[in-house]
Amino acid sequence: MNQVNQHETAGLRFTANPGGELHGRFRVPGDKSISHRSVMLGSLADGTTAVSGFLEGADALATLNAFRAMGVQIDGPDAGRLRIRGVGLHGLQAPAGPMDMGNSGTSMRLLAGLLAGQAFDSELTGDPSLSRRPMRRVTDPLALMGASVETTEQGTAPLRIRGGQPLRGIRYDMPMASAQVKSSLLLAGLYAEGETWVREPAVTRDHTERMLEGFGYPVLRQQGWVGVAGGHALRGGDIDVPADISSAAFFLVGASIASGSEVVLEHVGVNPTRTGVLDILSLMGADIELRNRKTVGGEPVADIRVHAARLRGIEIPARMVPLAIDEFPVLFIAAACAEGTTVLRGAEELRVKESDRIAVMAEGLQTLGVDARPTDDGMVIKGGPIGGGTVHSHHDHRIAMSFAMAGLRASAPIEILDCDNVVTSFPGFARLARRSGLRLDATGGAQ
Ligand code: S3P
Repeated sequence: MNQVNQHETAGLRFTANPGGELHGRFRVPGDKSISHRSVMLGSLADGTTAVSGFLEGADALATLNAFRAMGVQIDGPDAGRLRIRGVGLHGLQAPAGPMDMGNSGTSMRLLAGLLAGQAFDSELTGDPSLSRRPMRRVTDPLALMGASVETTEQGTAPLRIRGGQPLRGIRYDMPMASAQVKSSLLLAGLYAEGETWVREPAVTRDHTERMLEGFGYPVLRQQGWVGVAGGHALRGGDIDVPADISSAAFFLVGASIASGSEVVLEHVGVNPTRTGVLDILSLMGADIELRNRKTVGGEPVADIRVHAARLRGIEIPARMVPLAIDEFPVLFIAAACAEGTTVLRGAEELRVKESDRIAVMAEGLQTLGVDARPTDDGMVIKGGPIGGGTVHSHHDHRIAMSFAMAGLRASAPIEILDCDNVVTSFPGFARLARRSGLRLDATGGAQ
């Protein structure tokens, strides 16, 4: 069976049985964005980097395998711990063949920038979903820097990156709010002559900038622009990866919509460029409290306590969209359980995620009898009863977990198809969800 067929026929299904409440105090797996970056910068650093809390999910493991393929010695993961023996900015070796990024857009787009600065050629491939996602958003500006990265005619993977191309710094005004594009260019900028500057139309997650600085690499900032100059070095160190707020989001919404629930999520990353989900839920009337705030390795963390609450529909403020970009599938479930109408606009980026999250969520919600109307750049959802039925996640991890939470308020079972990719970001989701009170069955596939 070739790779495409394997991905298309994988068969994990969830059945979310109606009712239940969520209880408990627990820690969800490590932050995906920070896990990727810990391997990338740890590998390029001088000296050893010890990582704890690493996400042992398929996406972050794809990044880890790529660096192993380029000659980096990495011990682990062992209960979330890695030991990376950095090879320095110029110490990577040519991989023996194409490197498979699986489902991971972050791996592919960030590596495209980083590989553009290497002396050797490389090729990045992905699964069918990743092979449909737009790559010109990184390859076009990289070409302006002098890189040679070839896509298909449609501007998609596989990416063929020619090594040995001298890069020069650019000033790039990004057309979309994307941390992946910003990070890809900053990573290429480490290898460029002169300074590489980017400006984003709205604030996006800043983990790359924070980690670069944590590793002693100067990051330049000026009136909304962020930049790096080529030619400095990274110094390895320790990284404590906080729990992923994007994974916590399923429980934040689940506990909010299921009356009687109370959950404490421990050691969650609450970097202000990621907390849109907290702000949006709070505007909807959620009962959320942050405790034990501290800063760990340059990233703010806190325990998050959530009680069930009556939610109300809102107009989601535009500036919050990039700060909650991965949480909209589950926020749509919150909206379906709220009193009144919720309107999301300015979120066209949702159409080019692991699936078209506007179309796929609207289709699933409508199947369950919810009044959900997709628009070009968002959705209008009127809260009301949720029925049962069969929904397709289209191999999108966050869609699968969002509909699992909808079971808490459904009047009949929800069958969710194509759930295998839940392991990309949240290994152990079904077990943890069941332990906390979700009436979830998982059948078929790898559980
Ligand atoms: C990510 C950036 C976001 C996000 C993705 C992770 C990152 O993508 O959706 O899950 O780690 O930089 P975009 O940059 O495409 O918005």
